[in-house]
Amino acid sequence: MTEAAAVPAVDLPGGVRMPMIGFGTWLVRGKAGREALRAALAAGYRHIDTATMYGNEADVGHVLASSGLARDEVFITTKLPSGKAGRERATLAASLRALGTEYVDLWLVHWPPQDRMLIPVWREFLALRDEGRARAVGVSNYSLAQIDRLIKATGEAPAVNQITWSPGRYDAALLKGHQERGVAVEGYSPLKRTNLASPVLTEIAAAHGVTPAQVVLRWDLEHGVTVLVKSAQPERIAANIDLLRFSLSPDEVARVDALAR
Ligand SMILES: NC(=O)c1ccc[n+]([C@@H]2O[C@H](COP(=O)([O-])OP(=O)(O)OC[C@H]3O[C@@H](n4cnc5c(N)ncnc54)[C@H](OP(=O)(O)O)[C@@H]3O)[C@@H](O)[C@H]2O)c1
Repeated sequence: MTEAAAVPAVDLPGGVRMPMIGFGTWLVRGKAGREALRAALAAGYRHIDTATMYGNEADVGHVLASSGLARDEVFITTKLPSGKAGRERATLAASLRALGTEYVDLWLVHWPPQDRMLIPVWREFLALRDEGRARAVGVSNYSLAQIDRLIKATGEAPAVNQITWSPGRYDAALLKGHQERGVAVEGYSPLKRTNLASPVLTEIAAAHGVTPAQVVLRWDLEHGVTVLVKSAQPERIAANIDLLRFSLSPDEVARVDALAR
């Protein structure tokens, strides 16, 4: 069995299943970027996180087209820059062209737009989803209060909120707030914002024969958070998805939670 088959998935509305380990592509571009993407697919990632702003959708499209994988085997996310508010349709069309696909699995508003555009952008997202251009739609970097405004205006919660999430920023109330609203959390920058030399992480890592980075990524999964992680190095790319042969005890999870400042 490949790792891909074993990666757990989160159920989003509309029967969409999102693999809980995604390959981040911020700064993954050009020839080196395409090599990293090929290494990620070879290592078993079946969830790719890109964005209009990353300038690499064509690289993602190129690698997927030459991968031999069927379109429905890979979960693709892209994002609308908030500066493109009001130009949702044209922006998504450009993303789809660059990615070489008829639809994305998840389309996110990258950052909250100007306040007066918050609801109009969300309505347009729902319309484009209903037209089949995105299987699920969501947001990124939104507060719970902003999510509540979307729900109040349209009756529809975002499928996902993609937010910064790492041990130093652990926030039980924020996680619970998303759960109560039925919004899946995707966590970005799990490693970049973490001191991987922290004794708590190195001790837990040694106990499981894994690296501190793997402990952090597994900690996300233990909390039901879909983890997005980027690396340009093949060994790290492979290690970062190798999270399914160990688990953290409740006590270990609590010790990592306590790293929050
Ligand atoms: N929605 C948003 O506003 C938003 C914002 C930021 C990020 N994101 C998404 O989330 C993804 C992940 O976040 P991120 O790229 O900011 O941060 P990240 O994945 O936490 O960290 C990436 C950094 O960690 C290093 N690294 C990777 N694996 C490692 C390992 N096993 N041990 C030690 N260091 C390791 C990488 O270096 P090497 O490449 O040299 O390995 C890179 O410098 C992004 O790529 C992007 O797709 C979204």
